[in-house]
Amino acid sequence: MKLGHLSDLHVLKIEHPRPWHYLNKRIVGGTNLLLKRSKSHSSSVVVRALDRLQNHCNVDHIAITGDLSNLALDSEFYESARILSSIPDAAQRVSVIPGNHDYYTHAAAREQRFEHYFAPYIQTDLPGYRNDSAYPYCHLRGDDVAIIGMNSAIPTPWFFATGRVEEEQLKTLAAMLDDPKVRDRFKVVMIHHHLLPFEHSKVEFTRRLINASEVLETLRRHDVDLAIHGHNHHFSTIEIPHLRGSGTLRICEAGSTSVGSYSNPYFGGKFNVYDIEDGRLKSIETHLFESNDAGFTKWRERVFEEKI
Ligand SMILES: [Fe+2]
Ligand SMILES: [Fe+2]
Repeated sequence: MKLGHLSDLHVLKIEHPRPWHYLNKRIVGGTNLLLKRSKSHSSSVVVRALDRLQNHCNVDHIAITGDLSNLALDSEFYESARILSSIPDAAQRVSVIPGNHDYYTHAAAREQRFEHYFAPYIQTDLPGYRNDSAYPYCHLRGDDVAIIGMNSAIPTPWFFATGRVEEEQLKTLAAMLDDPKVRDRFKVVMIHHHLLPFEHSKVEFTRRLINASEVLETLRRHDVDLAIHGHNHHFSTIEIPHLRGSGTLRICEAGSTSVGSYSNPYFGGKFNVYDIEDGRLKSIETHLFESNDAGFTKWRERVFEEKI
């Protein structure tokens, strides 16, 4: 199975904003957006990525690890959901989770605005684990892959972009990973925030996953094969050992897919393709947005030898 990984689409769409929508934290976010985001992020780059994923990379499934919006506005969610709905058989082939920008205000989180717009992509194949929250959900795909969607997004004070996975969600995740329907599959966990400190950040304290060590321990203890995340808008891949047995957990971020203008390719618009076969990761391809003329091209490929 080929799994495409996009993240941090930050689709910008502001339609008839009412002034009170910009009170509180949105003033800060809106200014940041105007100064930075509108210059570097573009939904047309996301459309190019989806086209390449389907028509060149031939992916079976697409996972999007949060920050589909900037300010958690209805217009932004509507536009990003519209883009996703162009994917054939999208409800069966797409998994999404929220990022901190999708829970940008208390109102957006309380109204479950993200969950409303992306409902087709957060259903679960294991309804026995559902409680008040949609997370974690589980998508069983192909013969041997389980994709689990987590929520690390929480509304935060001004200038904070921290995340946290609630204890109840973590307990449910541990039980789900041990379920016989999941246990023997190749296990992929989607989470927006990074699990290890981001070396390029000068403000790590204000944007970290608060309980990263507990989350990481759960993934390592329950033999998760691949954790995919976003948030840093930066390419990274690291492998760390499981806490039981001899397997490893690989943690990957491709970057923000919608970045069309950049100087350092590590921060450029990217997506990953994971080739998973016979219960193991065979390769990771990373594609980078080069220009409007060239679109996305293959930037890196890592092929893994079978362990004997
Ligand atoms: Fe982001
Ligand atoms: Fe983020």
